[in-house]
Amino acid sequence: MTSSPHPIGVFDSGVGGLSVLRAMRALMPEESILYFGDQRHVPYGPRSMEQIQNFSEGITKFLLNHDSKLIVVACNTASAAALTYLRGCFAKRAVSFVGMEPAVKPAAETTKTGRVGVLATPATFQGALYASVVERFGAGVEFFQHTCPGLVSQIEKGELNSADTRAILEDALFPMLDASRNIDTVVLGCTHYPFVIPLIEQILGENVRVIDPAPSVAKQVKRLLEAAGTKNQSQGRASVRFFTSGNPTEMKSMLPVLLGESGEVEAVVWKNDREVI
Ligand code: DGL
Repeated sequence: MTSSPHPIGVFDSGVGGLSVLRAMRALMPEESILYFGDQRHVPYGPRSMEQIQNFSEGITKFLLNHDSKLIVVACNTASAAALTYLRGCFAKRAVSFVGMEPAVKPAAETTKTGRVGVLATPATFQGALYASVVERFGAGVEFFQHTCPGLVSQIEKGELNSADTRAILEDALFPMLDASRNIDTVVLGCTHYPFVIPLIEQILGENVRVIDPAPSVAKQVKRLLEAAGTKNQSQGRASVRFFTSGNPTEMKSMLPVLLGESGEVEAVVWKNDREVI
C-alpha cells in the first residue's frame, strides 16, 4: 500500500472552511492539513466570478508550492465560481480538487413534502454549478432560496448567537416556516453556516431537517486519496498549519470556538490579485 505524508490543502474566504476541516480531522486525523482563510477578501459572496477565480488561483498556487497533494475548495462560493477554472489552470500539475456543491441530492432524496430551503451566497446561486445540481437531482422538488446577507460577516466576527445573527436567520427562515410552503429540509450551501446550526435549529424547530455537507465531503476526500494511493498510512494525529491574509491573532482566537482545537496562524500577504506570498 502506498502512502504520502504530504498535506491536504484546504481553503475558504475565511473561517467557513473550518467546518469542512473539522469533518476531515474527525475522519482522517493522520492527514496533515494546510488551511488558508482569505480573510483580506471575505466575503466572496457578493464579488465577481473573475475576482473569485483570481483569488482561488493565487491560493491554489500557494498551497501547491507548499506541497499539497490534493486541494479542497472548502467554500461553496469559490467552488461555484472557480472549480472548473482551477481544474483547467492546474491541469498539468495532475492535482485533484474537491469542491463544495449545495446538498440538493440528499435533500431531494429524503424530503417528504417535496419542498426544500437552500441557504447560500449570491455568487453560489448565480453559478452554473447550482443550476446543474438542481437540474440533475432536483426533479419534482421545489426549492426556496435565500442569500442571508451579512451572515458570513457575523460568523467571521464570532457572533454565533447574537441578536443580529438571529435576526438575519429569522429573515431567511421565517418565510420557509410558512405553512403554505411546507418545507421539511434546509440545505446549508455555504461552509460558514454550519457554525450557526444550533441557532438555525432553534428557529426551525424539530420538524425540519438541516443538511451540512461537510461529512460527505470529508468521505469524498478520503476516497480520492485511497484511489490515488496517497493516503497517509501512518498512525497518530498530524498537525494543521493555518494561514490567513487577514489578522492572524483574530483567526487564532476563533480556532478553539469553531474547530475545538488551537493552533498557530501564519500571516500571508497578497502581492496582487493572483499572487500571495
Ligand atoms: N464559506 C463560503 C461559502 O461556502 C464563503 C462565503 C463568502 O465568503 O461570502 O460560500
